[in-house]
Amino acid sequence: MKPFFVLLDPDPDPRRREALAAVLARDAFRTLAVGLEASPSIATVSPDMVVLNLLSGMDLIPTAEHWHESPDHASIPLAALVPAGDEVAAETARLAGIDEVVPWPPEDGNVDRQLRSMERHARLQAEVSGYEKLLVTLVAAFEGREPFTMEHGHRVARISVAMGSDLGFSAETCSLMHRGALLHDIGLLALSDQVVHYAGALGPEEFSEIQSHPVVGYEMLKGVPSLEPLLPFVYRHHERIDGSGFPDGLVRSEIPLLVQIVSIADAWDSLRSPRAYRSVFSHGAALEVIADEARKGLWDNQLVRSLERAVDGTGIS
Ligand SMILES: [Fe+2]
Repeated sequence: MKPFFVLLDPDPDPRRREALAAVLARDAFRTLAVGLEASPSIATVSPDMVVLNLLSGMDLIPTAEHWHESPDHASIPLAALVPAGDEVAAETARLAGIDEVVPWPPEDGNVDRQLRSMERHARLQAEVSGYEKLLVTLVAAFEGREPFTMEHGHRVARISVAMGSDLGFSAETCSLMHRGALLHDIGLLALSDQVVHYAGALGPEEFSEIQSHPVVGYEMLKGVPSLEPLLPFVYRHHERIDGSGFPDGLVRSEIPLLVQIVSIADAWDSLRSPRAYRSVFSHGAALEVIADEARKGLWDNQLVRSLERAVDGTGIS
């Protein structure tokens, strides 16, 4: 049986939708081209894959963002066609959670091969990202237990990506930082209730339990091949370049640059969130704390300047 995919295309003209689906299908696939109005009922035809047409705009990004949250869609891989060479479109699609982003037309002109590979990759990615999304949901649920930490991972991810773009990293690299930032504190899930709800200054025992969360997080994720690239973010985000961090007191370039970016975004968001034992730092005061820490050697000055530009540009302030 030929693989079957649905092309979801915002083009209002059904003939143009069908023409694109025919180009995609050749003789190797069965296809169905549908417009936006059919979007809610796609799962009822049980496609092997859904392909979004993003060639003329990003109208379908909200659909993509919620795709794997729906129990009806969760296991259906999502791919997208983006204009070849349009890095912004590709980055937007990846950040929206699309499993396989395909520049179109394909470079070598071999449509069948490109689509078969898209279907295989998308299926694998859907499995991987389904698992990863479960972990992100667990972390978000944990963060949501405390008003102080609500949405912390998502904010750190957004700031990290803004810094990555500011520093000229590729969309792929920014996407990796995004994933790493979302899960960087996963080890906190293992904290005892006593520590999570501890009011007042922490004693040495509670402090050491909290300090163990990078190692605990690493132990939770290690051994899963698709999550391996995220391990440095989990294990190293409390290292500081002057060697004052933990768990290993690494210095300077021993800490991967991408991890340093997530770490400084994490430090910023912590200062901008209230705590039981202190009130929130203002935008200016938080930047001053980070700049002061950089003078003491904890942060790279270039990253401090990038953070300043990022928090001014993301709307997270
Ligand atoms: Fe942490």
